[in-house]
Amino acid sequence: MAKRVSVLFVCLGNICRSPTAEAVFSHLVEERGLSGRVEIDSAGTGSWHIGHPPDPRAVAAAKERGYDLSPLRARQVTAQECGEHDFVVVMDSENLANVQRLCPDSNVHRLMDFAPNLEVDDVPDPYYGDEDGFDEVLDLIEEATEGLLEAVEARLNGVAA
Ligand code: 4NP
Repeated sequence: MAKRVSVLFVCLGNICRSPTAEAVFSHLVEERGLSGRVEIDSAGTGSWHIGHPPDPRAVAAAKERGYDLSPLRARQVTAQECGEHDFVVVMDSENLANVQRLCPDSNVHRLMDFAPNLEVDDVPDPYYGDEDGFDEVLDLIEEATEGLLEAVEARLNGVAA
């Protein structure tokens, strides 16, 4: 009954896409009254930005839509933890390959696979692009986290996903 589900979002640097997904999904889960039942975190496959705040462009784009990324700090995913989360949700196919190599037994999914109607596989890496890229990241994440929430709710209700 009081089951909890944990979700870990993973990208490369943990300063653009996965912190954005963490904030967007936290907001959605709170809106649906499920905050106490869903644990949400994010991490990167790379180590370059450990301890850094999210990219200021990601913070600004998210703030425009009412999400606060400012308290988040980057960290690197570990093999142990990715086996412990109910859902490991990666942003692109490169992250998928990295997590599968690091932790073959994890329940890993690409985020965009939760929005099959969009026919997009990857949330594109916005780091070397311009500000528009961060809005596109938000558009994709907002759409796909709705589908992810359905999968998480199914798991909370005891249906395998
Ligand atoms: P993220 O974006 O994976 O969405 O956090 C990136 C951040 C930093 C780098 C690449 C992608 N980097 O090469 O430092």
